[in-house]
Amino acid sequence: MESRLPILLHGFCFISLVWQISYALDSISAGQNITDGQTIVSAGGNFELGFFSPGSSNSRYVGIWYKKISAGRVVWVANRENPLNDSSGVLKLTPQGVLTLLNSTNGVVWSSNASRSAQNPIAQLLDSANFVVKEGNDNNLDDAIWQSFDHPSNSFLAGIKFGIDRAKGLDRYLTSWKTADDPSPGDFTYRLDPSGYPQLILRNRSVVQFRSGPWNGLRFSGFPQLRPNPVYSFGFVFNQNEIYYYFNILNSSVPSMLVLNENGIAQRFSWVDRTHGWIVYSSAQTDDCDSYALCGGNGNCNIATSPKCMCLTGFLPKYPSDWEFGDWSNGCVRRTELDCEGRDKFLKYTQVKVPDTRFSWFNENMNLRECERTCLRNCSCTAYSNLDIRGQGSGCLLWFGDLMDIRQFNENGQDIYVRMAASEVGGSSGNPGARKRTGIIVGTVLSTVLLLGIAVVFTKYRRDGWIFGVSHQSHSEDLDLPLFDLATIVNATNNFSEDNKLGEGGFGAVYKGVLRNGQEIAVKRLSENSRQGQVEFKNEVVYIAKLQHRNLIKILGCCMEVDEMMLIYEFLPNRSLDCFIFDEEKGVSLDWRERFTIINGIASGLLYLHRDSRLRIIHRDLKAENILLDNEMNPKISDFGLARSFGGNESEANTKRVVGTYGYMSPEYAIHGLYSIKSDVFSFGVLVLEIVSGKRNRGFSHPDSHLSLLGYAWTLFRDGQSMELVDPSIASTLNSMEVLRSIHVSLLCVQQNPRDRPEMSSVVTMLVSDSTLPHPKQPGFFSEESFSEASSSSGGPRQIYSANQMTISSVQPR
Ligand SMILES: *[C@@H]1O[C@H](CO)[C@@H](O)[C@H](O)[C@H]1NC(C)=O
Ligand SMILES: *[C@@H]1O[C@H](CO)[C@@H](O)[C@H](O)[C@H]1NC(C)=O
Ligand SMILES: *[C@@H]1O[C@H](CO)[C@@H](O)[C@H](O)[C@H]1NC(C)=O
Ligand SMILES: *[C@@H]1O[C@H](CO)[C@@H](O)[C@H](O)[C@H]1NC(C)=O
Ligand SMILES: *[C@@H]1O[C@H](CO)[C@@H](O)[C@H](O)[C@H]1NC(C)=O
Ligand SMILES: *[C@@H]1O[C@H](CO)[C@@H](O)[C@H](O)[C@H]1NC(C)=O
Ligand SMILES: *[C@@H]1O[C@H](CO)[C@@H](O)[C@H](O)[C@H]1NC(C)=O
Ligand SMILES: *[C@@H]1O[C@H](CO)[C@@H](O)[C@H](O)[C@H]1NC(C)=O
Ligand SMILES: *[C@@H]1O[C@H](CO)[C@@H](O)[C@H](O)[C@H]1NC(C)=O
Ligand SMILES: *[C@@H]1O[C@H](CO)[C@@H](O)[C@H](O)[C@H]1NC(C)=O
Ligand SMILES: *[C@@H]1O[C@H](CO)[C@@H](O)[C@H](O)[C@H]1NC(C)=O
Repeated sequence: MESRLPILLHGFCFISLVWQISYALDSISAGQNITDGQTIVSAGGNFELGFFSPGSSNSRYVGIWYKKISAGRVVWVANRENPLNDSSGVLKLTPQGVLTLLNSTNGVVWSSNASRSAQNPIAQLLDSANFVVKEGNDNNLDDAIWQSFDHPSNSFLAGIKFGIDRAKGLDRYLTSWKTADDPSPGDFTYRLDPSGYPQLILRNRSVVQFRSGPWNGLRFSGFPQLRPNPVYSFGFVFNQNEIYYYFNILNSSVPSMLVLNENGIAQRFSWVDRTHGWIVYSSAQTDDCDSYALCGGNGNCNIATSPKCMCLTGFLPKYPSDWEFGDWSNGCVRRTELDCEGRDKFLKYTQVKVPDTRFSWFNENMNLRECERTCLRNCSCTAYSNLDIRGQGSGCLLWFGDLMDIRQFNENGQDIYVRMAASEVGGSSGNPGARKRTGIIVGTVLSTVLLLGIAVVFTKYRRDGWIFGVSHQSHSEDLDLPLFDLATIVNATNNFSEDNKLGEGGFGAVYKGVLRNGQEIAVKRLSENSRQGQVEFKNEVVYIAKLQHRNLIKILGCCMEVDEMMLIYEFLPNRSLDCFIFDEEKGVSLDWRERFTIINGIASGLLYLHRDSRLRIIHRDLKAENILLDNEMNPKISDFGLARSFGGNESEANTKRVVGTYGYMSPEYAIHGLYSIKSDVFSFGVLVLEIVSGKRNRGFSHPDSHLSLLGYAWTLFRDGQSMELVDPSIASTLNSMEVLRSIHVSLLCVQQNPRDRPEMSSVVTMLVSDSTLPHPKQPGFFSEESFSEASSSSGGPRQIYSANQMTISSVQPR
């Protein structure tokens, strides 16, 4: 009798200890359960599993969420389709190794589907967020009886194999939540499609919205932005049994995951820290050209041209009238039928996303020549490319029938050879369609040609003193730029005297000068050893020489002598916008009326760049310093050094480095080098908020919060307090209708997702009309610190530019 008590006590203590430990720790074993209110936490404390209610819902779900960082962010849900109505739920591990979720009447609400039964199972939450049922002593995940990583919800986490395991009968793919309050499967799926040559396909129910394109050894063909980066490494496995995409986190302090959101957008998030939260690191779908088959069969989508869709060379719109009206969906047909007797030729396109590979054929061992021959032998083969583009390239991929969903990139695209009737091929290769159409932003080949062209032009005409000194109305593609000789400039600037110096930029100085006829000029002089400068200098020549608009700075000519490269502009006496709006005293002299005129002027200059100029240009460095003011305080956009086109192999080097000015750069550009007209729209929005508030976005910090100027403006807007943002020095002059409209429009411009931002054409009308405007979503870079993250994540010239807020044409007297 006497001896039993201690034993019982001992037994009791042991049991309670086990329970305590199992909750504090990371697993349950057979027969044990987790009730609503209890949780288990992974060993390192990264993730927690238990019951939760999403958003404003009262339903109860079992899920896994971040614990240490970003507490509460759910990454996996068990009973997505079958919520519990109350807190009676119990998650239990059966002795056979099946997880079951029971309601109050012991009805099975959800269960895991064990592949086999277990001896001594435990269910353990790992630090990767993987919830694993396994034999207690076996840590090999390949032997797991069941794991949540094989059944993802809407989040692709490091460690998940996104794709297919034929041997195990697994297909791991993402399904969006219905809404933020309802994790049940929504309309969108993002799934590996193994047919033909595998690619990831994002669907709205059964309708394809977007595809990644096939893996080309370096990345998916449709993800030019996927490249080595400091946050994660990635790869693709393709063998008999398994086809999957995976990634690994490089620094455990900087988690990252890909989420398919309720609107069908797949975005990669990266964690910064508690104050900054998650930021969108990149997005699969970045612009209209990512919409599946926007241009129909045999069309090519180029976001930098207008219209976006073009037929491949030798193809014509199937229905020309639809095509004219912007309905490109029926695509293009051949002008000349194929001959199929072996006389057909191939036309090479570079820097493209290759067409849909669901109906393709491939061979890993063929080289490109064998690939071409194989294609020629089969009359229905319409194009070929390398399978793997690393090094010299290897393998063979063949397409049959119409080529669907091709798009043109500026960089990180790949080559494809499209079959043509011999009579359609003029001997040359390259992207012939693009050449006719536009200009410069288009692609590598073209801009190389152009830059070379300029060099030739300069050399050729130096002797004569003029470069195509014809009229400014000339519509020829030739440059139209007067050439000044060095002696003239030396004289005008007093031999580049310090007294004439207006400012110093990233690649040289700007001087004021007076020509003999009395005209005042500004001279931008490239310093001798700036290689980057040369690229930007040439770039600026190419663009600005062809632009004419009253809200763009006017170039008067250039000067190229042995060691000198200079650009000569009209001189604008009132300097740049930043001198006024950020200066308390001078700010007063710029009243609301003038500010509103300036806002509209910038919008109209930018619209011209984006849409109406012959070149269609993305400026990439719009900021207060680059808005110069003339006698009447009209704004003139200046500095086209970064309005980028890419030349030959320079493209990679340059675009790995995100150049521009920090504080004005959109998140997708700052973080991933992804730019479009929508990144200019973002900068424009920032600029407008600065003009209205008299505060710099960069460096702004609200005393009570970590909000950026954008975050602060948005919060005020949301609370109906927008007028609090207004610069006190213009308070007496303002028209509150215009002020509110300007703020509203600017908030639309700085929305996180480029797709949500309006184009400049809408901005221009929105600013002056009184139509109802949509409600802006939370801006990109909501909090001030998220800038710091962006700036520290890559090196290169950004630091140079951000250091002093200035590039070379920002004319600032000293
Ligand atoms: C869960 O475990 C507790 C503690 O052992 C037990 O009292 C309860 O009956 C279990 N619930 C279910 C549904 O198994
Ligand atoms: C929740 O309640 C609804 C009706 O109110 C019922 O149809 C459903 O089966 C319940 N779900 C669970 C898991 O008990
Ligand atoms: C429990 O779940 C079962 C099966 O899903 C269902 O039939 C039953 O109505 C549920 N009970 C309650 C009280 O919701
Ligand atoms: C469970 O597995 C069986 C056979 O392996 C399959 O038929 C069934 O659909 C699976 N159920 C779930 C919910 O995955
Ligand atoms: C998804 O498809 C439905 C029709 O099936 C459509 O109403 C909806 O707008 C689509 N969503 C998107 C984001 O395209
Ligand atoms: C990981 O990231 C943290 C936070 O950004 C940083 O402090 C740390 O130096 C990084 N570690 C490595 C090895 O890069
Ligand atoms: C050409 O390729 C298609 C698609 O792979 C195939 O069905 C057809 O049999 C091939 N024709 C010849 C003549 O090889
Ligand atoms: C510029 O030319 C004028 C007239 O020829 C001359 O008087 C003046 O000294 C020159 N200035 C410089 C700096 O060479
Ligand atoms: C201009 O200055 C350079 C050195 O600063 C000097 O070598 C040159 O002779 C000067 N030219 C004139 C015309 O004064
Ligand atoms: C702008 O420049 C003109 C001409 O130099 C001058 O008259 C005017 O006062 C300047 N405006 C401001 C606001 O400085
Ligand atoms: C570009 O390519 C050419 C020839 O392929 C090579 O000579 C040159 O060094 C390359 N330039 C850069 C910046 O890589």
